[in-house]
Amino acid sequence: MTDARPSDVRIIAVANQKGGVGKTTTAINLGTALAAVGRRVLILDLDPQGNASTGVGIDRAAREITSYDALMGEATLAEALVETAIPNLSLVPSTVDLSGAELELVDQERRAHRLKDALAAPEIARVFDYVLIDCPPSLNLLTLNAMVAADSVLVPLQCEFFALEGLSLLLRTVEQVRGSLNPGLQIQGVVLTMYDNRNNLSDQVAADVRGFLGSKVYNTVIPRNVRISEAPSHGQPALVYDHRCAGSQAYIRLASELLRREEPRAA
Ligand SMILES: Nc1ncnc2c1ncn2[C@@H]1O[C@H](COP(=O)(O)OP(=O)(O)O)[C@@H](O)[C@H]1O
Ligand SMILES: [Mg+2]
Repeated sequence: MTDARPSDVRIIAVANQKGGVGKTTTAINLGTALAAVGRRVLILDLDPQGNASTGVGIDRAAREITSYDALMGEATLAEALVETAIPNLSLVPSTVDLSGAELELVDQERRAHRLKDALAAPEIARVFDYVLIDCPPSLNLLTLNAMVAADSVLVPLQCEFFALEGLSLLLRTVEQVRGSLNPGLQIQGVVLTMYDNRNNLSDQVAADVRGFLGSKVYNTVIPRNVRISEAPSHGQPALVYDHRCAGSQAYIRLASELLRREEPRAA
């Protein structure tokens, strides 16, 4: 650990400025897999689209206090917490209100530290082992708040042609945040998503990314799997919707790989 939080909570920003690469799917299913092996997990929905909230079954009517209120200092994160149907898995929901936060914060002090300050509350730090922040598809002030608050950044990367270009930009941003607002920020890892083994391009991209980042890339690769894409419309993580499908099994392996790297004695 790189700073003096009152407990060993690990805060991971799930980030990639590109949309549709598997951020939300990874936050939900990695979170569910970690919860299933007894870690206390909080998914913090920091995307105004609210897909992580929907995906764990928290519909709009149940989103009274949200990540927006916590960022604006109108509520604490503890007040915004909701329990999901999954043991050990809590959520801070978001709504479209959050899209206004960037403008509203623009002339506020410590505008990039809002989330860090909110997460420092003992009700969070003492209660959870992992906080997974589901970032929006942009390198905006919301993502910056996540990177300032986080111990590390987990990057889902879709195996497609421009993946490496996007990754370079993201890594430069992480460097900038490390050089200024959060010196301890690490790369948790890169996870290749929506891998299609019938597609040579997927293989080529995977090889290029491994050549570029080496051991930062997880051995576990998440396959393209229709059960994963069906699960959100049922308000369930894929791991609950169909825990035997190839996608769910991959997320279970990803969780154990993360734990093995993170907590060598625990896994
Ligand atoms: N491994 C996968 N196989 C099939 N569909 C997937 C997979 N991962 C994500 N999806 C689907 O792709 C879409 C984008 O994924 P999502 O996690 O929402 O991306 P992001 O949060 O980066 O925008 C969603 O409809 C999701 O259900
Ligand atoms: Mg998303």
